[in-house]
Amino acid sequence: MKFDRRSFIRSASVLAALTMAEIDALAASHRIKNHSKPVAEDDEAYWSNMRQLFPLAKDLVYLNNGTFGPSPYPVIDAMRTAQMDADMHGNYGAYDATMPKIAKFVGADDDEIALTHNVTEGINIACWGAPLKRGDEIIVTTHEHVGNAAPWMNRQKLDGIVLRKYTPARTAAETLERINALINKNTRAIATPHIPCTQGQILPIKEICRLAKDKGLFALIDGAHGAGMMPLDLHDMGCDTYATCCHKWMLGPKGTGFLYVRKGFQDTLQAYYAGGGTDDGKWNIMTNPITIGNYAPSAHRYFGGTQANGLYTGVNASIDFIETIGQKNIHRRIKYLGKYTQDRLLEFGNKIELLTPTEERSRCAVNGFRIKGVDYQKFFTRCNDKKIRIRMVPENGINSLRVSTHIYNSKADVDRFIEEVKKVV
Ligand SMILES: Cc1ncc(COP(=O)(O)O)c(C=O)c1O
Repeated sequence: MKFDRRSFIRSASVLAALTMAEIDALAASHRIKNHSKPVAEDDEAYWSNMRQLFPLAKDLVYLNNGTFGPSPYPVIDAMRTAQMDADMHGNYGAYDATMPKIAKFVGADDDEIALTHNVTEGINIACWGAPLKRGDEIIVTTHEHVGNAAPWMNRQKLDGIVLRKYTPARTAAETLERINALINKNTRAIATPHIPCTQGQILPIKEICRLAKDKGLFALIDGAHGAGMMPLDLHDMGCDTYATCCHKWMLGPKGTGFLYVRKGFQDTLQAYYAGGGTDDGKWNIMTNPITIGNYAPSAHRYFGGTQANGLYTGVNASIDFIETIGQKNIHRRIKYLGKYTQDRLLEFGNKIELLTPTEERSRCAVNGFRIKGVDYQKFFTRCNDKKIRIRMVPENGINSLRVSTHIYNSKADVDRFIEEVKKVV
């Protein structure tokens, strides 16, 4: 990854977001270019440099990466340059390189990645493509985001499938038992999130996929928070589909995502949305009888048409950015900040209800909580007024709050938020 001073000055002049001193600091941040050399999760000297790589407003404490992750300058610069290139020189495409890059990033093969615009689109492709009939049962959670709830509820409405729900438990073992207890002769799929948006706990996804396989069920995973939060190996995970995005933990362009479809599952998952790229290239409307012939021998069968070359160049840059720092380093650091947040919330004793498990394998960078006797909406507004950006969780009547941290955050950011909690407790 090139952190070159001139290109930063160029993007900075367009964005008008940096002072010259900051540009120099940015250029000096070559030391961030470590190509996955291990960095301690508590090396504040190293991690405190990160914030300079993002155009985040100085007075903002941004603790809402779970909604979307701000992009660093190299990603913004790559997007802008690619867009300019397209508009100046008529260059088209630029996303062919993205599928193999994403595949490598998540432990998949090049032909298992379909580009999408967000998680919701990927989930819709998986939901509608799965061969299901009236009365078939699908297992979801009581902690769904609308992006995984609405597609399945819609298919329930239109096709008469049945949704069964479990509540994620405080331990991985108990969660598995709850899922197992829902499985019966009508069950066809487990369509669970890997990491629910409500309280960010890491569900035992490999065991869930194993269970699905053992019982002959489809494992159609909502992976909104997986990519970029932790290194992924989707082959090892064993899911049939994994829908995720580049605009949260990958810190990529907003409105970009991808759907992994396991190679051996592609002839089972129907492609309902066809266009340029979804067939094997031999289509011809003059054939008699008219037929689309063969689908593309890859997950390209699930998407078609023109893609935003600026955005996908930005996705490539976001993967480079993450690999430059090191996926494992990022994971360790954000897990450390998540634990720090938990510890600080737990200092309030029974005044705070920490909803995210403390179990080591079930926690990472997102924490959900309630403040006893304090309305969650009022606390959210109070934080917003003080430029502390967190998220409310009104979904499914859960009525709680959520804090999520990424590499541009410091312990000081968490402390500033904790000060507000202290004031209302
Ligand atoms: C768990 C979960 N699923 C699905 C979505 C929908 O994502 P998108 O807006 O990219 O479609 C989100 C977004 O926050 C989410 O947290």
